[in-house]
Amino acid sequence: MPTKELLVIGELNVDLILNGIQGFPKIGTEILAQKMNLTLGSSSAIMAANASAIGIDTYFCGLIGTDDFGTFLLNSLESKGVKTVYIQKTTEHQTGITVVMSYDQDRANVTYCGAMEALTYQKIPWDELTGFKHLHLSNFFIQKGIREDIVKIFEKAKSLGLTTSLDLQWDPENLWDFDFKNCLPLVDIFMPNEAELLALTKKDTLDQALETIATCSNTTVVKLGDKGSLAVANGKRIAAPAFTNKNPVDTIGAGDSFNSGFIKKYLDGRPLEQCLQYGNLMGALSTTAPGGTAAFACKESIKKTLKETFNSEY
Ligand SMILES: Nc1ncnc2c1ncn2[C@@H]1O[C@H](COP(=O)(O)OP(=O)(O)OP(=O)(O)O)[C@@H](O)[C@H]1O
Ligand SMILES: [Mg+2]
Repeated sequence: MPTKELLVIGELNVDLILNGIQGFPKIGTEILAQKMNLTLGSSSAIMAANASAIGIDTYFCGLIGTDDFGTFLLNSLESKGVKTVYIQKTTEHQTGITVVMSYDQDRANVTYCGAMEALTYQKIPWDELTGFKHLHLSNFFIQKGIREDIVKIFEKAKSLGLTTSLDLQWDPENLWDFDFKNCLPLVDIFMPNEAELLALTKKDTLDQALETIATCSNTTVVKLGDKGSLAVANGKRIAAPAFTNKNPVDTIGAGDSFNSGFIKKYLDGRPLEQCLQYGNLMGALSTTAPGGTAAFACKESIKKTLKETFNSEY
């Protein structure tokens, strides 16, 4: 019997966020930013941190360098209660970083992938996996070492008895080279947003896109921003409206927070509709504070915001 709940396999990077930048950078010149913030970045890590914050027993498997940013990531995840025993260090690469230049509602990002590209099938602690109930993998396209073995990873996880979920995220190269026909049958919950699903299937409408993956996907959960989310399983559709936040601070990490909420109820054995609703609630919660994890600071603050902003229970 598994004694651990969730293993997240994924990329790790810090976000260096610059705000209040006076104009756009130009070659050969220097401009100033008024604010700087170094935070836990990466889709997978935000999902893991928020999953732990809402009560899932969460472990992370990833790769960092032997540098200060790596130590910062370990400390950030541990402070959120995420167990880091499966995070490995490499001397061959530095820890990944995204430099975020933030301009009002828009952002210009530069990412150095570093160690996150060097995580491979061989580095996953397979001998330990029978101890877990569920495997979640996120940000497929930027993890070069994971990409080639994605089908093998889900095959192995299923053979060891785990339930599985996958959030591909956006492909920065816009090539969408993902073998969905062979991989999705091994994924219990496929969790793209609408734009990603259209790009992957090369279709113009959500109906056409869902039709394209209908024979290979088990449960598809589509994130629809402030329109909420939609699940398709066994030919049936369930839609769940978003929770209204009149003054969202930003939507960074809303999708990852949705994933953590959805998986929380899924692991509790709740029906799909409740999984969607709780995913939506956690996505909306994320929009009440800057960045991906600030709204999930502690149980008391989560409870307070849910009650005051969304009239909902934890
Ligand atoms: N402005 C908003 N107001 C209320 N809820 C929101 C808002 N934006 C997002 N959400 C909630 O969060 C969920 C996930 O957000 P979204 O659809 O933006 O995911 P995503 O595009 O995968 O995000 P990410 O960029 O974090 O990967 C939505 O399904 C919705 O429930
Ligand atoms: Mg997303």
